[in-house]
Amino acid sequence: MKIAMIGTGYVGLVSGVCFAEFGFQVTCVDKNPAIIERLQAGEVTIYEPGLDELLVRNARDGRLIFTTDLVPTVADADVIFIAVGTPSRRGDGEADLQYIYAAADEIAAAMKPGAVIVIKSTVVVGTNADVRARIAKARPDVQFSMVSNPEFLREGSAVEDFLRPDRVVVGVHDEAGSAAMKRVYRPLYLRETPMIVTTLENAEIIKYAANAYLAMKVTFINEVADLCEKAGGNVQDVARAIGMDNRIGSKFLHAGPGFGGSCFPKDTRAYAATGRKLEAPQTLIEQVVTVNELRKHSMAQRVIEAAQKSGVTTVAVLGIAFKPNTDDIRESPALDIIPALQKAGLTVRAHDPEARGAAEQVLPEVTWYKSAYEAVEGAGITLLLTEWNVYRALDLKRVATLMSGNILFDLRNVYSGTDIEGTGLDYRSVGRPLVGKRG
Ligand code: UDX
Ligand code: UDX
Repeated sequence: MKIAMIGTGYVGLVSGVCFAEFGFQVTCVDKNPAIIERLQAGEVTIYEPGLDELLVRNARDGRLIFTTDLVPTVADADVIFIAVGTPSRRGDGEADLQYIYAAADEIAAAMKPGAVIVIKSTVVVGTNADVRARIAKARPDVQFSMVSNPEFLREGSAVEDFLRPDRVVVGVHDEAGSAAMKRVYRPLYLRETPMIVTTLENAEIIKYAANAYLAMKVTFINEVADLCEKAGGNVQDVARAIGMDNRIGSKFLHAGPGFGGSCFPKDTRAYAATGRKLEAPQTLIEQVVTVNELRKHSMAQRVIEAAQKSGVTTVAVLGIAFKPNTDDIRESPALDIIPALQKAGLTVRAHDPEARGAAEQVLPEVTWYKSAYEAVEGAGITLLLTEWNVYRALDLKRVATLMSGNILFDLRNVYSGTDIEGTGLDYRSVGRPLVGKRG
């Protein structure tokens, strides 16, 4: 069974490497020669824990090849996965499917009879049926199967999520498609991982509904945090208690500065746009999009007001990636918050263990430091935006000594009141009472 993986971004690369780990012969294709060159040299092009070891081992064993040549790869493949980007289209937030259709056209021209074409990228409802019709029109001479196989990988734990998923979802229209999926996911099948075999449309809706629901859950707890601040409550205590109801569940109830990443923002916008287009408005998700955007700006406003009140001119930001254990900064709250601070006249110093490279391209006038301690030196305010482990056990007395001011905004509720006692810090977090010396 030969697999072709078209697109080696966060989704394509992890999927391609893991299918090789399952024992299949996998060839990963990408249009970007620079990415392919680095992968051929055994260099992982994204930060994903555990991926480098799997990539090097499977490439060394000859099961994993990287190339920019789509045609010969597709011509020789039994199953062809499309994992190219589906970014938000400017304006209406609909998913931009140009790369999906471009890849589909190239695949149609090169595929062999009986090929199984699988869209793994997140695509709006109806895309799989469209692509199937488009390929059938281009190649009436060739029998092929279309499959929708959305991924549920979380960045930072993508390898784990791929190798031990809660379920595999496949949308098919024929037996050949479902048989091929049973084969490529056989190692998971043997581990009793449930496989949902359904229609193309259901598989597309399942992916969007899952992400939209998770984004809504995060937004819900973020608004509960606002209520807690006004009512003198503690959002962590509330989250823990409601999460004990197994109908709610404890995951995704961490209040923060708002969700980011390459999925939730894009997928909630696309899902809401689909609801409008199909005249089945998804009013809750429309609100999630609006509330999340406003939250990032209101978080920046909190810091600006604190700076103005205490005459602070410099802010140290700890954490730029949209979440820990990834170098991905796509739609990270930091990309809204830092420019807002600078626009208010504040100087920004920053540190991030992995995302500095990507962030330097998009955040001008930020000075970067090699450690959190160097970043906080001389800052009037420290702002913790991403809960990297390296920030979880800072010597807060040392932080207070290094800073010129004493305000610590912890927008991920990493610390607690007891950590702050005796540090002299004026500690402000999300959805919890203020602690420490007032600034
Ligand atoms: C993205 C979205 O985040 C995810 O929700 C969707 O399911 C798949 O697309 P990701 O892996 O992050 O997933 O994509 P991205 O990081 O944008 O990488 C896409 C890769 O495909 C890039 O390396 C790009 O060079 C490559 N590509 C793009 C092609 O090889 N051919 C194309 O025609 C377009
Ligand atoms: C998400 C989905 O979890 C995954 O199943 C899908 O395939 C892709 O999109 P990802 O975007 O990598 O994965 O990150 P995730 O861990 O879901 O976090 C998304 C955003 O929500 C991050 O900005 C994170 O900081 C935020 N978040 C998450 C919270 O603010 N609080 C939480 O409790 C959980």
